[in-house]
Amino acid sequence: MEFSIKSGSPEKQRSACVVVGIFEPRKLSAAAEIVDKAAHQFLSDILRRGDMEGKSGSSLLLHNVPGVEADRVLLVGLGKEREFREKEYRAALAAAIRQLNETGGFDGTVYLTELNVRKRDVAWKIRQAALVVQETLYRFDRLKSKKNEVRRPLRKLTFCVSRRNELQSAETALAEGLAIAAGMELAKDLGNLPGNICTPSHLADQAREIAKSHGLGVDILDRADMEKLGMNTLLSVARGSHEPPKFIVLRYSGGAAGAKPVVLVGKGITFDSGGISLKPGPEMDEMKYDMCGAASVLGTLKAVALMKLPLNIVGVIPSTENMPGGAATKPGDVITSMSGRTVEILNTDAEGRLILCDALTYVERFSPECVVDIATLTGACVIALGNVATGLLANNECLAKELLDAGQDSYDRAWQMPLWDDYQEQLKSNFADMANIGGRPAGTITAACFLARFAEKYHWAHLDIAGTAWRSGKEKGATGRPVPLLAHFLMDRARRAPNPAGKRKRG
Ligand code: BES
Ligand code: MN
Ligand code: ZN
Repeated sequence: MEFSIKSGSPEKQRSACVVVGIFEPRKLSAAAEIVDKAAHQFLSDILRRGDMEGKSGSSLLLHNVPGVEADRVLLVGLGKEREFREKEYRAALAAAIRQLNETGGFDGTVYLTELNVRKRDVAWKIRQAALVVQETLYRFDRLKSKKNEVRRPLRKLTFCVSRRNELQSAETALAEGLAIAAGMELAKDLGNLPGNICTPSHLADQAREIAKSHGLGVDILDRADMEKLGMNTLLSVARGSHEPPKFIVLRYSGGAAGAKPVVLVGKGITFDSGGISLKPGPEMDEMKYDMCGAASVLGTLKAVALMKLPLNIVGVIPSTENMPGGAATKPGDVITSMSGRTVEILNTDAEGRLILCDALTYVERFSPECVVDIATLTGACVIALGNVATGLLANNECLAKELLDAGQDSYDRAWQMPLWDDYQEQLKSNFADMANIGGRPAGTITAACFLARFAEKYHWAHLDIAGTAWRSGKEKGATGRPVPLLAHFLMDRARRAPNPAGKRKRG
C-alpha cells in the first residue's frame, strides 16, 4: 500500500473515491458539507430521504456525484458528534478502509483524518490511521492453500489534513505510524504461527533476519551456553521438550556509544502445555500465543529501527516450549536460578516467571537505564482486566508513569497494579528460597512479585499481556499489542533524551 498526506478541497480530488463522515442524526461533517455544496445538496437530499442515519460503523457508497471530480463518494457514519472519541474515530476509519477495499477503485482520499478527536492532534490522528489500515487489512492466510484474494485491492491511500501548516507533522506521523504498523504486523504473524512452525529456533531465525536487514547486533545462546551461565530455572522449563531452547539477544545502537540501554525482555514460550501440571484440553491451542511477549520485542525493535530512534536498546528473549516429556521438571523439584537463589516449583505451569527470572539476572550485565519485561504471564490478569488493558507493575513510579502515558498516547492502554511487599509472603516455601506460585489470590501481582526479586538492581516494569496479546473466539488472532505502547514509550524517551552523553537522570 502506498500512503500520502494532502491538504485540499474534497470535491476537487481526482481519485477513485473520496471519503467523508456523517454524524448522527444525518449531520454533515465539515468535508461532507463542502462536497454537498459543490454537488448542490446532493448529499443532504440523500440524508433527508433516510438512506443514512450516520450510525457509527455504517457507510454508503455513492457514484457520479455531480460537481465532484472523484469517481465515488463514500459516506461513513460517525455516530453522535458529542460522543465522537478515539474509539469512534478508529471505527469510522476501519469501516472506510473495509469499504474502499471492496469497491473497484485503486485509491482513496480520506477526509476522516480532518475530524476533531477530543484532545488528539493531527499527528495522533495520522498515526492511528496508519495503524487502523494495517489492522483492517491484515490477513493471516499463509497456511491456507487457497488465499482469499481481493478482486482489485486498494493500492493507494491519501489522508487529508485541514491546514497546509499541518502537512509537516502529518508526514512525520505517517512515517511513525507505518513503522509501528510494520512492527505490529511482525508481532501478529509470529503470534499466529502455530507452535510446530514458530519454535524457539524460528524466533532465533527471525531475530537474525531483523539484525541483518536493519543492522542490529545479535547473539543466540543455545542450551550449552545457558548451562555455562547457570540459567537453570530457564532450562528446567525446557527439560520436558524435544525442541532446543534459545536465548536471543538483539542490540540496537541508535544512541551514543556510552549511553545506557533500555532493555526489553519478552517471554518466548512457543507452546505452553503446562508441563507436568498439564493444562485442561479446551482452548489449549491458544497457548501457541505464549510467545507474544517475545514477538512484541521483535516487533518493537523493527519499528524502532525503521524510525531510527536515537537510543540504545537491547531486546532479550528467553525461549522454549513447556512440555510434559519424561525428563520434565516435576512439582516439588527445587532449582537453583542463575542468581543463585533456589526456587521450589510447585506448579510447572507457572513457567513464564522461571524463564524470565534468569533473563532478568542476565540483563544486569548491560547496566540498563531501565528494563521492561513483556509476558503473557497470568490467566488472573485476563480475569482482572479482560482484553482491554495490559497489566502494569513496576518497582519505580516514574517508569510506571512513563509506560501508562505511552499506553494512553498510543491508545494501547495499560493499568497499574500494586507491587507491595505484603504480597511477597505468598511466595514463601518450606524447602527453597521461594515458591514459583503464590496461590489463587492476586495471581498477577504475586507473579510480578516473583519477578521483582530478580530485578532489584535496576528500574524495572512488567507488562502482563495475557489478556491483550490475542483475541479468542471467532476472531481468534494475535493483536500486535503492546507494540504501539512500547514504541511510544521509546519515542518519548528519544524525544526527551537525544542527549549523546547518556547522562540524563534515571527513571
Ligand atoms: N501462559 C500462561 C498464562 C495464560 C493463561 C495466559 C491463560 C493467557 C491465558 C502461564 O504460563 C500460566 O499458565 N500461568 C498460570 C499460573 C498459575 C499456575 C500460578 C495461570 O495463570 O493459570
Ligand atoms: Mn503456563
Ligand atoms: Zn505460559
